[in-house]
Amino acid sequence: MKKKIAVIEGDGIGPEVTKQAIRVLDAIAASFNHEFEYSYNLMGADAIDKTGNPLPDETIETCLKSDAILFGAIGHPKYDNDPTAKVRPEQGLLKLRKSLQLYANIRPVSTYSSLFHLSPLKSKQIEGVDFVIYRELTGGIYFGKKDTAADGSSAFDECSYTREEIERIAHLAFQHAQTRKKKLTLVDKANVLETSRLWRKVVQELAAQYPEVTVDYMFVDNASMQIIVNPRQFDVILTENMFGDILSDEASVISGSLGLLPSASIGKGAALFEPIHGSYPQAAGKDIANPIGSILSAAMLLDHLEMKEEAQLVRDAVNWTLLNSFVTKDIDPVNFYFTSTIGELISDFVSGKISGSVNTENIELRKSTII
Ligand code: IPM
Ligand code: MG
Repeated sequence: MKKKIAVIEGDGIGPEVTKQAIRVLDAIAASFNHEFEYSYNLMGADAIDKTGNPLPDETIETCLKSDAILFGAIGHPKYDNDPTAKVRPEQGLLKLRKSLQLYANIRPVSTYSSLFHLSPLKSKQIEGVDFVIYRELTGGIYFGKKDTAADGSSAFDECSYTREEIERIAHLAFQHAQTRKKKLTLVDKANVLETSRLWRKVVQELAAQYPEVTVDYMFVDNASMQIIVNPRQFDVILTENMFGDILSDEASVISGSLGLLPSASIGKGAALFEPIHGSYPQAAGKDIANPIGSILSAAMLLDHLEMKEEAQLVRDAVNWTLLNSFVTKDIDPVNFYFTSTIGELISDFVSGKISGSVNTENIELRKSTII
């Protein structure tokens, strides 16, 4: 198959992790006779530096014409530390999500037994954890009216949702739950927020169309605790934009590192695939960032293009590296491998170059050990 992939490397570690994901996609293309045509596009601080605009029109146009989008990361400390900056890198990502109507952000949380000992949580709590967060992505407080008073003495961000915005993502979440453990948890703050009460009402109504799915409702403060104390209870978590942003970072602790988690954003336009982590500027250019979030995002991209076997092979390759303790510094700060080595190992596995013939000595040479 021939597919057009729009690549947005973005800021910080974005370019280096995306490079490894593309390396893996290239290995897939070679093994399965596909042709992936990449176009490179600007967004974020990088785009501001080069064009003055965090999301140039050409990026939107190319994304609209592509079969899928692979995105790295966004953000730069010079904007984080300057609350008065009018033009900000994140505006690019938010505008892209809105322009392509990518209303559902899907963030799977899984665990790897080989990483249990590195998790801050106890193994017995995380064993068998497998859930997926459906985060609404184009509404809520992120996109509501916002302003700061002229004298700077007050500011506001408005949160609003329409029934239609809730329904379209809720249907996707219910449908996914039907193919899994058939449980959906709506996370909200219905004891306080009007928008949350609308979410609850709409989800209660839709539940009748999915009788085989058990629905439960949880306040976000409780959910943030339950994710840590009893994460096995979850199957599909459905939630609004900001709660989903916060809970998905929290949930990444279960897997062992924020660097491992991929995501897919789907909606009306071409779908976008990105790791859930940020631009991690302290690590940029050092070849130490974890490329697995990006590589697993590429696997989700393959799934989306109906390349199921290919996607599974990428996941098998990732599992193989983790099982053999080929991990980056975020996971093992003492015995770690470089970003590019992990990318190379995963693409070699995909190309069938690993089985039986793995030269551990060569791999060991690329390990960095801090004593
Ligand atoms: C994410 C990120 C973004 C968000 C930022 C970079 C705007 O944290 O994708 O989770 O808040 O949505
Ligand atoms: Mg986030």
